[in-house]
Amino acid sequence: MSTARFPEGFVWGVSTSAYQIEGASGEDGKGPSIWDAFPGGRHGDPACDHYRRYPEDVRLMRDLGMAAYRFSVSWSRVLPEGAGRRNDLGLDFYDRLVDELLGAGITPYATLYHWDLPQALEDRGGWTSRDTAHRFADYARVVHERLGDRVGTWFTLNEPWVAAFIGHGAGVHAPGRRSAADAFVAAHHMLLAHGLGAEALRSSGAQRVGVVLNLSPVLTPAQLGDFTLEPSEEDAEAVARIDTLLNRQFVEPILRGRHPGDLLPVIERAAGLGHIHDGDLDVIGRPIDLLGVNYYTPVVVRAQPSAAADPAFPGSEGILFCSVPTAVTAMGWPIMPGGLSLVLRRLTREYPDTELMITENGADFVDVVTGDGIHDVDRTSYLEEHLRVLRASLDEGARVRGYLVWSLLDCVEWADGYRRKFGLVHVDFATQRRRLKDSALWYRDVIKRNGLGVDRPKRPTLETVAARAQVSRATVSRVVNGEASVSPEVRAAVLRAVQELGYVPNAAARSLVTRRANAVALVLAPPQNGGEALVSAVVQYVTSLLEGAGKQIALMLADTDESHRRIVRHVETHQVDGVVLVLPDGAGPLAERLARTEVPVVLLGRPAIASLVPYVDVDNVGGARAATAYLLDQGRRRVGIICGPTDLVVVQDRLAGHRNALHQAGLHPITAPAGFDRESGAAAARRLMGDVPGLDAVLATSDQLAIGALRAARQAGRRVPEDLAIVGFGDIDAASATTPALTTVRVPVTEQALALARLLLSRLDGRHTSSVVLPTRLVVRETT
Ligand code: FCB
Repeated sequence: MSTARFPEGFVWGVSTSAYQIEGASGEDGKGPSIWDAFPGGRHGDPACDHYRRYPEDVRLMRDLGMAAYRFSVSWSRVLPEGAGRRNDLGLDFYDRLVDELLGAGITPYATLYHWDLPQALEDRGGWTSRDTAHRFADYARVVHERLGDRVGTWFTLNEPWVAAFIGHGAGVHAPGRRSAADAFVAAHHMLLAHGLGAEALRSSGAQRVGVVLNLSPVLTPAQLGDFTLEPSEEDAEAVARIDTLLNRQFVEPILRGRHPGDLLPVIERAAGLGHIHDGDLDVIGRPIDLLGVNYYTPVVVRAQPSAAADPAFPGSEGILFCSVPTAVTAMGWPIMPGGLSLVLRRLTREYPDTELMITENGADFVDVVTGDGIHDVDRTSYLEEHLRVLRASLDEGARVRGYLVWSLLDCVEWADGYRRKFGLVHVDFATQRRRLKDSALWYRDVIKRNGLGVDRPKRPTLETVAARAQVSRATVSRVVNGEASVSPEVRAAVLRAVQELGYVPNAAARSLVTRRANAVALVLAPPQNGGEALVSAVVQYVTSLLEGAGKQIALMLADTDESHRRIVRHVETHQVDGVVLVLPDGAGPLAERLARTEVPVVLLGRPAIASLVPYVDVDNVGGARAATAYLLDQGRRRVGIICGPTDLVVVQDRLAGHRNALHQAGLHPITAPAGFDRESGAAAARRLMGDVPGLDAVLATSDQLAIGALRAARQAGRRVPEDLAIVGFGDIDAASATTPALTTVRVPVTEQALALARLLLSRLDGRHTSSVVLPTRLVVRETT
């Protein structure tokens, strides 16, 4: 750690891909891709609107000091039907982008295929048709012809394993096929496309040609703690089989021009071998200049005779994919920086002449936008830990020429849509505003000093402690949990490391060995009044985050007194380690009752009665204040508020914010009580219009009420917004679909759900537990 500098000329940058950031999915003659047509997809617009905003994005990269930018070209923007007719407007875009990059001193790296096959080719068989490989080579030529004078480095494909097996085997990605045969055939045709494409690029004069693979070490659960452990014979066989399917299936044909020996029988069983023609391997195996490595997480398996094959790994019967009790990202991916070192060691040993580049590495974590920035400590630690490992790998002789973070921007994460956050830069998808996260500023400093600071990683992990004390992670975990089975010397060494590094043990570390209930209760009331989206987000994220930390989730419905009694009993008898309460209006007596047990409880929403139970809420007061102030700024003077049931804390808060803004302007509130639904919003609006002469604006405490008010205004012949401005609260889906579209206050949904899960995790760790209030934001549309 004494010198954390990187070699002179080491390339720092970021990666993105076309579908995930461009937007403009039907503009300037672009043809549809399989992702535009995929039912789980349709997120392609507006994405980051990079198609229009690329100058701003390039400026951001320049300001952060990036030397390289890896982007992908959308095949169907260039060739709308996948072959034949060229769309010059599409090529013009990449032309402008490349010029902008060069003008900013950033070297462009182009990927030709990052998963967005033209739909027209899919209609003709897609990757299961050999012809697609030839069309890819034509496409490569067309793009090179236009950009080759300025782009020196070309990657043919991105992660063919994912495209073939998640897209054609598991059916989770476009084109959504679920056929082992299709997956193997697609994989071979992608390899062939790489070979033919590389040849086309080279014969057109490309300087540097490569391919990008997702490579992961395959380990047993025990090896996660100690790579050197010898697995049992059965487990070793399971590991080898998955390694062949995931890694060697692609690495060996490309770098050695041959199939791994144990793969052909698996392919033959699923798909026959008719699609592999003589000579294909020669084309696939021609030398490349650069291998791009995408590393995120290891794959963990063990033998289990009864397990059925995973459709993403045809041929994997008898193998169990294990979820492991270790720290994970929000995506649930285990964090294991040492896995990068395993991948690099192996490549260095087996392919010492191949130049490498880390073309993707990064993490999805929940970001909270605060008044003074986005403090994404977890992402920064993730990147920093991986860079430390990379630095050590360079010392061991790995020929890694550069490192590109995934990703520059928060963007569309394929079938997961917008909820995944991998960016160094936060994107607000309603306004497209970009904000630098702390990780971006940290990365800028890394680039500036061409290395890591000498200060220790911000948040040491179990792994850092293990490395410092020179023991396995499991040993650290045992010491942290006070197990007796550790010798006094080892215990002292671990405790010294814990102290020196300032390590705070987390829930995951503890769950490695403690025998607690390892379960968490998620207590819900049936959602009502438009809260469904929030409740379903809570179920989804709380479940995935807590399960990722090794907890079972017990879903409990709290709808009757009897159910309350049952829940209290369940908690009192320690059948769960923690409770997440999602009840209307802060849970009241049940929360108080549970808070008296020793089990940590967290709440969604500020409770009516002040209590010590920490909660996650949104800034309702600030949102209503901002909405009212905006109306006043627009010159509105007679502003009414349609107000849902005032026994609800959210409604009280929204009313308070509204009053507060009026008060500052020397005005008095005009209140019309209402219930929950549109009809009652319409009735309240009618009353206001009848009673208040000159009424020129209405704020409603929910979008449903505002939508009702909008209807009543129209029926009464008022023009919106000319005669009457209307503002809602919540930004539910229906808000942007009204005519005119509703101005409203956006309430973050996913963020609340994630914050809630993390609050409970902190409580389980015994870490700080203050309540979290997330910002709300006015979204101005046409009703004002
Ligand atoms: C990789 C993909 C990239 C992004 C990251 C999170 O597999 O290449 O597009 O989705 O994962």
